[in-house]
Amino acid sequence: MKRTGFVIAAVLGGLFGTCVGTSRAAPQTGATLAAHVCSACHGPQGNSATSAFPKLAAQGVGYIEKELHDFQSGKRVSAIMQAMAAPLTPAEIRSVAHYFSRQTIAPGFANPKLVALGQRIFRGGLPHQGVPACMACHGPAGMGNEPARYPRLAGQWSAYLYRQLQDFAHGRRKNSPHGMMNYVASHLTPAQMKAVASYLEGLH
Ligand code: HEC
Ligand code: HEC
Repeated sequence: MKRTGFVIAAVLGGLFGTCVGTSRAAPQTGATLAAHVCSACHGPQGNSATSAFPKLAAQGVGYIEKELHDFQSGKRVSAIMQAMAAPLTPAEIRSVAHYFSRQTIAPGFANPKLVALGQRIFRGGLPHQGVPACMACHGPAGMGNEPARYPRLAGQWSAYLYRQLQDFAHGRRKNSPHGMMNYVASHLTPAQMKAVASYLEGLH
């Protein structure tokens, strides 16, 4: 946590050092924004180096756009990302979303001990607990559903997925349509969240 704070402070310092006073009159392309701004945390081509920052590579265009608009409006709360999204125009958001969606995601790893439970939850849900199958919305292989703006989960850092599930369960993240993820996550135990998150990181 301490290290993450330091990295973020260093990155923000660097960004302000280079950006303050620079005119933003010319719209930037997605590739330029990604290379000059986003890569500081989300890594080259959207493959972040640590789970403190989600991978954006191969994520759905519509989902990335929605999240950036939600950060701008404050519907999704993150001090860092609200600051990052604030200056972006709708065209820049579209362009950067297209850029990341076209990149190849670096593979992740599952803990072999958690795969069986994680796979069961992902494919069949936990009917006795009222948990629907994740794949009903996130796709049979966790690749997401582009027209519906359901995110890709396959290959994402398990620690990031786990944090999001906790945030949904405790109402710190509230921007899923009709509160669907708040419902899903609040019916999972922490151990079940860990198992399904680990399984998802290993999907590719
Ligand atoms: C200083 C670090 C930092 C920079 C620079 C940064 N981000 Fe982020 N980004 C984060 C963090 C941290 C999160 C996770 C927020 C949370 O936990 O909800 C995040 C989350 C996101 C998400 C949500 C991903 C998901 O799976 O839901 C998107 C989309 C995103 N960032 C896009 C961008 C774009 C586009 C840029 C460049 C214009 C950018 N970010 C620059 C730190 C950063
Ligand atoms: C009824 C449809 C539905 C089901 C079932 C569902 N999800 Fe989701 N999930 C969504 C939607 C929609 C979002 C995007 C929320 C938003 O718009 O920000 C999402 C987002 C997420 C995220 C955040 C991803 C990110 O990049 O930040 C995680 C993690 C997640 N879901 C895990 C799961 C797991 C695990 C299950 C099964 C236990 C599950 N979901 C079942 C619809 C669903």
